[in-house]
Amino acid sequence: MTRTLSTQTIQKIGETIKLNGWVNARRNMSKIVFLDLRDRWGIVQVVCVPSELDEKSQSVLKDIRLEFVLEIEGVVQARGEKQVNKDLLTGGVEVLAKKIAILAKAETPPFEVANEERQANEELRLKYRYLDLRHERMKNNIILRDKVIGNIRDYLHDKQFIEIETPFLSKSTPEGARDFLVPSRNYPGKFFALPQSPQQYKQMLMIAGMEKYFQIVRCFRDEDQRGDRQAEFTQLDVEMSFVKEEEDILSITEKMIKQVIKRIGGDYQMTFNKFPQIKYDEVIAKYNSDKPDLRQNKEDKNELAFVWVIDFPMFEYKEGDKRWAAAHHPFTAIRDEDLDKLGDETKMAQIKAKQYDLVLNGNEVAGGSIRTTDPEILKKVFQFLGHSEKEIQAQFGHLLEAFKYGVPPHGGIAFGLDRLIAILAGEESIREVMAFPKTSDNRDPLMDSPSEVSKEQLEELAIEVRSVK
Ligand code: AMO
Repeated sequence: MTRTLSTQTIQKIGETIKLNGWVNARRNMSKIVFLDLRDRWGIVQVVCVPSELDEKSQSVLKDIRLEFVLEIEGVVQARGEKQVNKDLLTGGVEVLAKKIAILAKAETPPFEVANEERQANEELRLKYRYLDLRHERMKNNIILRDKVIGNIRDYLHDKQFIEIETPFLSKSTPEGARDFLVPSRNYPGKFFALPQSPQQYKQMLMIAGMEKYFQIVRCFRDEDQRGDRQAEFTQLDVEMSFVKEEEDILSITEKMIKQVIKRIGGDYQMTFNKFPQIKYDEVIAKYNSDKPDLRQNKEDKNELAFVWVIDFPMFEYKEGDKRWAAAHHPFTAIRDEDLDKLGDETKMAQIKAKQYDLVLNGNEVAGGSIRTTDPEILKKVFQFLGHSEKEIQAQFGHLLEAFKYGVPPHGGIAFGLDRLIAILAGEESIREVMAFPKTSDNRDPLMDSPSEVSKEQLEELAIEVRSVK
């Protein structure tokens, strides 16, 4: 007999079926036992009457406890009018058990699975993440994540973008955050770095003639964690060739977001039909933030206020280092009307970039820019930032070299997918939409990592660890 899913039982009244799942609840009513059996699709009530069961099933019935994995054969029957549970999709039916088999026993979980309240602390939830993910809310978050990602892929494939993987073992480059380093066994003393984003690779893919690229990709930044930050997070990374103006990227992104939100279902209200585009200077003057929350009703979890912030400053003054730096990265294009200010120290703060962020309910969910491909402008930018020729070569030499071989005008954007999905799920923290996140102090209690490694491993990598307290 093939398996019937919990939610399919409503179409099978009168039929003998086979169910698989976990025990979500057990209620004893004198000799009759009611079991709520849970699978990924939902919950269905199973009625166990000893006289209806074969001998073996009768004898296992008393052993069945919460979270046991069962196989049940039985007959689907309609519930009496008074027994109908309107809160449950399968609340109009129940399965009268004929045979029960225990596929796996389970110890008492460290926290309740059936109870949606977040009773356990983060440490415990992450140590037993596989149990935490059994919570309906968490399961729904993971399913929502899959829907969002699936719909993004559908949209972009339909528009002839291709998904291309780029390396994780990459090179340490100054992108703002600290790099995670990976020692190389073959080259003692040298290191790979995990990418903070595929920025340079996607630009090289434009030079390679791929024209429309995207990737759902893990990025690594060794930064302090917060509700909206993880050291390891997922970007939707996009780059397009033969785009000159921001509008080309903004319009396709906006259409994608609208289609994805429509297709994932859910009861969302868009505050703006067309996402407003507000200049950085204006947004700062008006809201004192470059991430304004423009919802009409901030209590309403289903309201989505998307807004573009455009015309970011190209440079920012680093008070600590007493020097100017690229606000985003040096390859961001400068607005045409500001090009003549480049090099004039007194006007640097006024130079605006073709850079944009997408803000959702006060959170930066995406950012990107049109890129500079003109070597003369790039040279001026690097000179102004005070990079020596040697530094430029060491950090960006490969990209500048690539630019010599026919670089199309290009630009792109990257979404922080965890943030977008957390907001769509109505969650405060991005950890709630990641299957296996790290704790707020960047550990994994489930795998117990980071962890020490053997002396032999370190020796092979020519690494010596100073004694640590
Ligand atoms: P940026 O650094 O702005 O741009 O990153 C893009 C988006 O990624 C999300 N994000 C994060 N999400 C979770 N945890 C983090 N630690 C984290 N850091 C960033 C944010 C952000 O908007 N290469 C450029 C993109 C481009 O120019 O095309 C880039 O990475 O939502």
